Amino acid sequence: MITPLRIAHMTPQLPIIQGGMAVRVSTGKLAAAVANAGGIGTIAGTGLSPRELIAEIRKARQQSPGYIGVNVLFAVNQFAELVRTAMREKVDFIISGAGFSRDMFTWGKEFGVPVISIVSSARLAATAEKMGAAAIVAEGKEAGGHLGTDRSVKEILPEVLQATNLPVIAAGGIMDGFDAAEVIKMGAAGVQMATRFVTSTECEADDNFKKMYLTASQDDVVLIKSPVGMPGRALRNKFTELLQRADSHPLIEKCRQCLKRCSAEYCIMDVLRKSVTGDTENGLVFAGESVYKVKQILPVREIMQQLVTQLETALGNA
Ligand SMILES: Cc1cc2nc3c(=O)[nH]c(=O)nc-3n(C[C@H](O)[C@H](O)[C@H](O)COP(=O)(O)O)c2cc1C
Repeated sequence: MITPLRIAHMTPQLPIIQGGMAVRVSTGKLAAAVANAGGIGTIAGTGLSPRELIAEIRKARQQSPGYIGVNVLFAVNQFAELVRTAMREKVDFIISGAGFSRDMFTWGKEFGVPVISIVSSARLAATAEKMGAAAIVAEGKEAGGHLGTDRSVKEILPEVLQATNLPVIAAGGIMDGFDAAEVIKMGAAGVQMATRFVTSTECEADDNFKKMYLTASQDDVVLIKSPVGMPGRALRNKFTELLQRADSHPLIEKCRQCLKRCSAEYCIMDVLRKSVTGDTENGLVFAGESVYKVKQILPVREIMQQLVTQLETALGNA
C-alpha cells in the first residue's frame, strides 16, 4: 500500500516531489502539472529575478490548486531575496539546494511557510531538524545538478533515517515506481524525482535539451567542476569537453556577481541558460545518472500514472 506523505500542511495524493531544476528547466508550468497529477511541484527560483519568480508562482497557482513550492540554490547572492519573495507569495514550501542557513528557517516561521532541506549526510539532516526543517530530502550521487556527495542514495538513506524523526524523501536515480518502491521499503516517506520530468510535455526546456536526454547513453553522463565549488552531473558535449582540456577556458562574457563564492572558471548561469534555450553544445546540460533509461516524452499525468501502477505493483495495493 502507498502510505500517504505528510509534510507540514501538505498531504499530496502521491508521495512524489518533482525536484527543482535551474535555470528555467522546472518552471510554473511543470510544477503545476505535477501538482495537478497528485504530486508536489517545485519551481526553480535560481537564475530568475524576483519579478520573474513571482510571475512563475502566479502562473502555477492559476494552473493548479495543488501543492507548489520554490527551490533556491543556497550559493546564489539573491538567496534571501528570492526565498523571501516566494514566501511573500505564500508558496506551500521552500526547499534549498546545496546548503542551508539558520535564517531561512526564521523567515519560514515569520511567513508561516515550511522549509525543506536537501542534504547528503546524517550530520546535516540532524542539523536541519534542529534548525526547524519540516522534512529532509536525502540526495545521493545519482542526482543531476550540483552534488553534495559521492555516495549512493541507498547508502545515505539508512543513516539519515537514523539521524532524524522528520519525513525523509529520497532523491537521485529514481526513474520509475519500482525504484521508488525500493527506497520507500527502506523507510523513505517519499521520493524526489527530477530527470524523469525533463522529458515531459510540460517541461519548458528547449526540444534540443530533451533530445539530449532521449539519446544519452550511460557513457554520456559525466561529472564536471562547477564554479559554485561543488561537482555537478551533466551530459557530455562540446562544453564539458572544453572544461576537461587544461589549455582552454570558457570565457566569462559578463560577470553579474550572482554567486556568494565563485571560482570564476566560467559563468554557471550563462551556460545553464544557454542549454535550456537550445544551445546544448555550448551550454551545460545537467542530468541525473540514470538519464539513459528515459526513452519517451510523455505528459506528466501519464508519467505519474505509470509511477503509481508500478508503485502499487511493487508495494501491493491492498
Ligand atoms: C537539469 C537539472 C537541474 C537541477 N537543478 C537543481 C537546482 O536548481 N536546485 C537543486 O536543489 N537541485 C537541482 N537539481 C537536482 C534535482 O532537483 C533532484 O534532486 C535530483 O536530480 C534527483 O535525481 P534524479 O534527477 O535522478 O531524479 C537539478 C537536476 C537536474 C537534472
